[in-house]
Amino acid sequence: MREQSVKICKGPGCRAWSSDRIARELREIGEALDLEGVKVCRVPCMKVCGGGASVRVDSQPGIVKLRDVEDALTVLGISEAVAVAQLA
Ligand code: FES
Repeated sequence: MREQSVKICKGPGCRAWSSDRIARELREIGEALDLEGVKVCRVPCMKVCGGGASVRVDSQPGIVKLRDVEDALTVLGISEAVAVAQLA
């Protein structure tokens, strides 16, 4: 897997949309699946508050709004890997 950095906003508006939980769960899934190519980091307010947690992914243009960790996995294209791991 190509290395990707996932920058998740830690500003107050995004925390209200569970950005802390999304970041924590994404890290846990990355460790569980041994996804060393995915780096999760927290960044200050991106000035696009509201509508979900603001996330910037290397492979995607612009900032995406996430409401759950599944959204993050879909953006990263690893949701199928999670499904396979859960079945194992
Ligand atoms: S608080 Fe996240 S973009 Fe402003």
